[in-house]
Amino acid sequence: FGPKPLTGHKLLLTAGPTREPIDPVRYISNHSSGKMGFALATAATQMGAEVTLVTGPVNLATPLGVTRINVESAQDMLDAVMDNVDNQDIFIGCAAVADYRIAEVAESKIKKSSENMQLALVRNPDILASVSALTKRPFTVGFAAETDNVEEYARGKLERKKLDLIAANDVSIAGLGFNADANALHVFWQDGSQQLPATDKLTLAKQLLTLIATKIKTS
Ligand code: PMT
Repeated sequence: FGPKPLTGHKLLLTAGPTREPIDPVRYISNHSSGKMGFALATAATQMGAEVTLVTGPVNLATPLGVTRINVESAQDMLDAVMDNVDNQDIFIGCAAVADYRIAEVAESKIKKSSENMQLALVRNPDILASVSALTKRPFTVGFAAETDNVEEYARGKLERKKLDLIAANDVSIAGLGFNADANALHVFWQDGSQQLPATDKLTLAKQLLTLIATKIKTS
């Protein structure tokens, strides 16, 4: 498998979508397939890391050697991350976490009645920001899914969420990003950036992790 620059390092990462229940049969979610996060888990294991993968509902096999924790909602994902973050060297938030959840989940199936209906939503906790706020925190990496102003918005998230690194993808480009086999990343940190051009997600995952490995060596 080539060089193992992550040997001796523990990596926790999130992948896939979250599902926010509306009632017992319905939910709000997004198009994340989990492919990018699972590629990162595979690549990190091949590079020598001990990997824990917290994932929303996806149709993907667990990569060899990876400890997998299945979750549904953003709150479940936050709980699983917080239960496992102690002693981690690196945290990567690759999951497409729902920003909002239903204010009051109905206990029984909502019946059709009027022509229109409204759902009240409340903000979900921010998992990445919760990890970066820890006193003894891992090297914290976020993703940014943007459709425009990629650099400005990604740098905003780097600052606001107090991250060490952010990997931005332009999810408006057909064939890349959500539910695709390929992706391209523009990675930003405090005083620099690097473009990782379009390629398959496993190759890209190795490139991103190689960059992270050089950063943790010098941090
Ligand atoms: O799963 P695939 O189909 O392979 O697609 C990959 C991907 C496009 C989902 C992935 O590359 C990606 O961009 N993941 C992040 C998607 C996202 O939710 O981005 P965001 O810009 O909304 O969020 C910014 C960061 O904050 C992300 O690291 C996210 O995990 C994190 N976040 C967001 C909201 C929240 N409540 N908690 C969080 O931790």
